[in-house]
Parts: sequence; C-alpha cells; structure tokens
Amino acid sequence: MSTIDVETLRSWLEEGKPVVVLDVRAAADRATWAIPGSLHIDAYDELKAHNAHALDGVVLPSDVPVVTVCNSGYTSQIASKQLESRGIEAMSLVGGMQAWSLSWNTADVSLSNSNAEVIQVRRVGKGCLSYLIGSQGKAAVIDASLQPEVYLDLAKSRGWSITAVLDTHIHADHLSRSRLLAEQSGATVYLPNQQRVMYRFMPLRNGSIIKVGEASLMVIQTPGHTPESMSYLLDRQALFTGDTLFLQGVGRPDLHATTEETRSYAQVLYHSLHHHLLMLPGRTLVLPGHTNTPTPFDKIPLTATLGDLRNQVELLRLSEPEFVDALVARIPPVPPNHERIIELNEAGELIENPIELEAGANNCGIS
Ligand SMILES: [Fe+2]
Repeated sequence: MSTIDVETLRSWLEEGKPVVVLDVRAAADRATWAIPGSLHIDAYDELKAHNAHALDGVVLPSDVPVVTVCNSGYTSQIASKQLESRGIEAMSLVGGMQAWSLSWNTADVSLSNSNAEVIQVRRVGKGCLSYLIGSQGKAAVIDASLQPEVYLDLAKSRGWSITAVLDTHIHADHLSRSRLLAEQSGATVYLPNQQRVMYRFMPLRNGSIIKVGEASLMVIQTPGHTPESMSYLLDRQALFTGDTLFLQGVGRPDLHATTEETRSYAQVLYHSLHHHLLMLPGRTLVLPGHTNTPTPFDKIPLTATLGDLRNQVELLRLSEPEFVDALVARIPPVPPNHERIIELNEAGELIENPIELEAGANNCGIS
C-alpha cells in the first residue's frame, strides 16, 4: 500500500502537479478544516467497518494520482487500498489532517513604494499567517508559526539573512517559533513590552523603529485582542496587524473570564482600530495574522487595503457602544489548550510534537 508524506503533497500542490485529494472524513470533521481543492466523501464509518463498497460513489479521473486523507492516516489507508483494487493510483497521506497542520505555502506581496520584498507564509493546515520581509540582504520574520527551516530556506533562496524576529503578541492558538528561529539564525527577538515572557528579548514600545536593510518597521501599539498587542507598519505601505484586524473582521478580546472584562477590552480594541489603524491612509495594505479558511495554493496574497476594509467589514462601521455589544454577543468558543499554549509561549518553549496541542479550529476573529 502506498503512502505520501505532507511535505511531498505540499510540494506537488505548490508546483501545480495534477493530483486529486480525497477527504474521507465525517462531514463534521471536514467542517472544521480541509485541504484546499479536495474532494469529499463521507465514508469514514463505512471504511472503518471495511465495507468494500464504501467509495463506490466517488468518480475519479483514471490518469491522476489520488491522495486519500483522514484525521490521522489510518482510515485513509483502507480507502487507498480500495482504490488501488479498482486500478487507481492511490496513496494515503501519512498522519492525515493532524500532520497537515504544519503544511504551508507562500505568496509574494507587491509594494509600490518600498524597496522591501514581503513574502506571506501561510500555514495552510491551520490558518496562521506569518511574514518574511527582505531588504538589502537582511530579513525580518513576523509571527513565525512554522518550523524555523521554512523561514531559513526561504530567506536563503532570496539571498537574505534573518536579523530580526518579531511577534505581534503572545499567541494563544499556536506555539511561537520565534525564539527558536532567532537561535538558529542569530537574529534578535523583538516583542511588545510586557512582563510575561521569560526569555531575553528586545522590548518594543509605541513608535519604536526596527531597521531591516533599507526598510523600516514602525511599531503601533494596538491593545484589545490582548493587552500587549502591536501592529507593525512597513515603510508606510504595509501594515502587519496580527490578531487586531483581519480581512473579514476584528480580533477577539482574548480569553477573558467575565463579560465585563471582555467589554472593557472591546472598548480598548475599538480605540486601537479607530484612533490608530484607521487613521492611516486608505491605500495602506493590511496583512493580518490569521485567516479563517484554508488558503489555496494560488500564490495570491491574502490582503486588502485599509480603505476597502473600512467599507467591507461591518464591525468597523459601528459606533463604539454598538461595536462593544456586537463583540460581546459574538465571542467564539475559546481555543482548546490555550492555557498551556500561552504558558509555553511565555516560557519560550517548544514541545517535541506540537500538533496535538495546536489542534482545533482557528477562533481568533469575530466578523
Ligand atoms: Fe492571537
């Protein structure tokens, strides 16, 4: 029986190699996250029961390899065996959707009035967006959520050395790879000024400037999602908003115990959005820290101008009291394992297999 690993499938999709991805999970599992462009048949129970006709309803092209996918890579083996017995070239994705969590792709962001180049690095298995910014042989990484080699290899391919590693805030949904990336690249870690992170970092304050080659990143303090949240403005052109502002909505006031606490952080968030970010020119490109849908392998960056977001995001058109009420009413469920993730991010620790800890839908935004 044939198998394929995540890195091989990822590179096939990035290269545009013809392949059919067949998701055999139950519909409820697929609803949380899926591989972009995959076909679906809800055959999980029938496959587990070894029903030989479980996949009879699927029509597949005969000349394109099929990759079967389930939650952790066992039921998909039954599926690929069944397809092989029908004469179809089939292989099972090792580790299933759990392993796919660390898959990624990239898109170049074009800036008209800056010498800097920006690569949006999308963790497609989870929806985390990170950024590599290069100028004059130097590079910065914002919100590293993937293994350091990803950023090191991308930087090397452009002739950049990574000198600065930044997080927009202390994340609660995934483990920050910033400290490890800095150790492996010799870069400096820059974090919002706060007393929680226990390893060495350069604290950033409102108005701080970080130079990357000829480019500069200016720090804008934008509390609300979390107290320490910051946004970074590149050459007055591109705005890295972390979990403060998304393309479809705004960041949740993160994980507060009481409605009153949520309400007061929603007020702070309103102030950050309206008195800091939305004051910037409408042509400023917004580059957020998350997306809530699986990102296709299309090399199209996920971005929009501030001007477009002002019109498109309903929450940005509300008055402060309306905004606060809307956020409190729409707070999504807390991400699983968030307490442990925050603890590890404060300690700057990674665990051997973070995938299980990081599992779960992406609930950072409110739209
Ligand atoms: Fe966050």
